[in-house]
Amino acid sequence: MPDILISENIRGEAVDALAKQFDVVVLPELWKDQAELMRQVAECRALIVRNQTKVTAELLAAAKKLVVVGRAGVGLDNVDVEAATRGGVLITSTPDQNAISVAELAIGLMLSLARMIPVANEDTKAGHWNRQRFLGNELYGKTIGILGAGKIGYLTARRAQAFGMKVLAYDPFLSRDNVLLSELQAELVGLDELLERADVVSCHLPATKSTLGLLNAERFARMKPSATFINTARGEVVVESDLVAALKTGQLAGAALDVRSKEPPVAGELEQLANVILVPHIAAFTHEAQQRVTNTICQDVGRVLSGGKAENAVNRV
Ligand code: MLT
Repeated sequence: MPDILISENIRGEAVDALAKQFDVVVLPELWKDQAELMRQVAECRALIVRNQTKVTAELLAAAKKLVVVGRAGVGLDNVDVEAATRGGVLITSTPDQNAISVAELAIGLMLSLARMIPVANEDTKAGHWNRQRFLGNELYGKTIGILGAGKIGYLTARRAQAFGMKVLAYDPFLSRDNVLLSELQAELVGLDELLERADVVSCHLPATKSTLGLLNAERFARMKPSATFINTARGEVVVESDLVAALKTGQLAGAALDVRSKEPPVAGELEQLANVILVPHIAAFTHEAQQRVTNTICQDVGRVLSGGKAENAVNRV
């Protein structure tokens, strides 16, 4: 049995370096088979995952020798942190390593919606020259509403400001005198006010008990009919059927989704709508971010297994 089991597609020099010190097994498809995952992890001291492996209380109970779980990424919705803490298993993650990439994708999607770039591309490649059909909107002078003003929300807002956008932020964990908000000259407002005033709403909220289904019919109804909605955070925050209805009835001008309530999704109405841009949870998938994430997680797991302290521990055990 290996010391370290990697149950998703995580590779690179940092994994090779770890393998010089420990017995490492990489099984990129293992996350798909929970029973086999539980069998494989039983004797391991470390498990390294992305967002697809379900690190449940049951799995943690079966992994009697487990000391540390490395989450290569930022969201912790696939890891039962409470159960890990109870069982004395340390969780470490890579909180800031992919933030720039996610913020850059959010901006790319915002521009793509404002100028209809994907549809114009398809149309032009199909042999048309429809200049009038693609009369877009400027971002300059518009308002971006950032839902969740953590690191990614902050970096997205900073980039939006470079386009001359005004920034509104909703974050129940921040106070009005927050330094980063002041630096951005962002206005901290309530959720409903943000939805009513923003021209672009960019979601950066984690999936927690209090955010599940937060963006529902009632919330979309508050948004301007000319507004667009971008989600590069977690799909579970949105009631997708309500979003479809808002887009179909013109309650909302457009949406761009990197994340879905079920991944991979079952193709449905969203895939048919021209005012929707869909990408397959790639916000953190850049060469640079993945290298940083892999290095950080491998180093932290190696440190813990060698008796040292994790630099990015999520819990205390
Ligand atoms: C994250 O939570 O870090 C991103 O969604 C990317 C991922 O989960 O792999």
